[in-house]
Amino acid sequence: MIGLLRSPGKISPVQWWADAVVYQIYVRSFSDSDDDGVGDLEGIRMRLGYLELLGVDALWLTPFYTSPMADHGYDVADPRDVDPVFGDLDTFDRLLEGAHEHGLRVTIDLVPNHSSSEHEWFRAALDSAPGSPERARYHFLPGRGPDGDEPPNNWTSVFGGPAWTRVPSPDGSGGEWYLHLFAPEQPDLNWTNPEVRADLEKTLRFWLDRGVDGFRIDVAHGMSKPEGLPDAENPDVALLINTDGDPRFDDDDVHDVHRMIRAVLDEYPDRMAVGEVWVGDDERFARYVRPDELHLGFNFRLVRAPFDAAAVRTAIEHSLAAVATVAASPTWTLSNHDVSRPVTRYGGGELGAARARAMTLVELALPGVVYLYNGEELGLPDVDLPDAVLQDPVWERSGHTERGRDSYRIPVPWEDGAPGYGFTGGDPWLPMPIEYGRLTAADQLEDTGSMLSLVRRAVELRKTHPGFRGGELEWFGAPEGCLAFRRVGTTLVCALNTSAAPVPLPPGEVLLASGPLDGARLPPNTACWLV
Ligand code: GLC
Repeated sequence: MIGLLRSPGKISPVQWWADAVVYQIYVRSFSDSDDDGVGDLEGIRMRLGYLELLGVDALWLTPFYTSPMADHGYDVADPRDVDPVFGDLDTFDRLLEGAHEHGLRVTIDLVPNHSSSEHEWFRAALDSAPGSPERARYHFLPGRGPDGDEPPNNWTSVFGGPAWTRVPSPDGSGGEWYLHLFAPEQPDLNWTNPEVRADLEKTLRFWLDRGVDGFRIDVAHGMSKPEGLPDAENPDVALLINTDGDPRFDDDDVHDVHRMIRAVLDEYPDRMAVGEVWVGDDERFARYVRPDELHLGFNFRLVRAPFDAAAVRTAIEHSLAAVATVAASPTWTLSNHDVSRPVTRYGGGELGAARARAMTLVELALPGVVYLYNGEELGLPDVDLPDAVLQDPVWERSGHTERGRDSYRIPVPWEDGAPGYGFTGGDPWLPMPIEYGRLTAADQLEDTGSMLSLVRRAVELRKTHPGFRGGELEWFGAPEGCLAFRRVGTTLVCALNTSAAPVPLPPGEVLLASGPLDGARLPPNTACWLV
């Protein structure tokens, strides 16, 4: 048995998020209580014991609101209700209460950049004339060209194809176009419209009053659009790349939205917001986490770094620099529902698994907030899925050239037994491969050498060992292909070897290693903590 358990119900004081470990639950894929093959809120409640055992401080639940599921919940038809596939408001309240009893905070996703095309506002907009107040909540514009049959500008959708769709006028004639930076079922809201702002405030209060501990703000660098919606210089963008200089994202006026969100949160003690901020430039990134804006912003540099010590060090240095000027906590992530899983990204198979273990120790040694994505603690790889089961809108929108994100959203295997592996008694919404049967949570809990045991031990040490205090990093000289750092003012050293040969371990006693050591040497694809 590894790990000390925290006493249930223990909630720590102010700024609980500053060095928290937060666990992302992709609700659809975590745990299914009613055997319809789709994860749900009650399913999460059934697994709270596991989450407490894992030692995380808080949860982030991906959208569970009323939705036609064109983008699996990121197309929200009613942000203040629960989709029946996930439960209802009572189930949510029970989950929240149960989580708090287990000492877990609960943060939830908000999607303010766009609504679903099934939102009552958008339906009303389609039924209303150009220039009407109903259309003014979205971006409806006449097209270009003599017949208005070319889109209003050259923007592309993040999911592929044009970012505009034309709708017929209510009288049947060729009509206006509406903007959707994602799927056509996700029309962008017009953030210059006061009703849009007021509605987000209402949503924030709705969930804060129910007792949620915070929010993850989807596309936090979106929302505001530049005056006149000018053409993009480079309209060809892939999914979620660096958005520097892209007129669709990171508009200066977006910060007014974040100030509004912060002002509401400040009325409620101990609540936080973390933004999804795909902004590469450190100075522009810092603006999102100024003292009167979001508390935290995901910095995706570590996700994008290859398994190479120099690249990892650069990613860490930039992420620290990006928050240093505004005194915010850095926010680390190696994995989420939009990116290939670490085991696969770092090379797949045993090599990828060893590297993912090593990077987990690097990440958990860093100051600030760490986000783990469900299944990351089990070392799940991506899985190649047959064309016929792909569901991500990216697959259709890209004309079947991009396979999309389904292969990193496959349900969590809890215990042996196809087809549902304890996730569901029915048929999982995406097929679960046989190889997931060898990576179940039940088996890994019993195995002291498993990825799950490593994560539990690392999270526990991060919480209890004095080596993890101190907010600044100090780098040590390290052989080519290696890195070593410690938190200033402590004796804990984290060393990583991404080179092809073993290197001497730094001085000190080994506290935890991601794989077997080679005597006094740190083997390739391995990290360790020493004191
Ligand atoms: C964010 C989400 C992603 C979603 C998109 C549109 O990037 O993380 O999953 O598809 O926003 O809402």
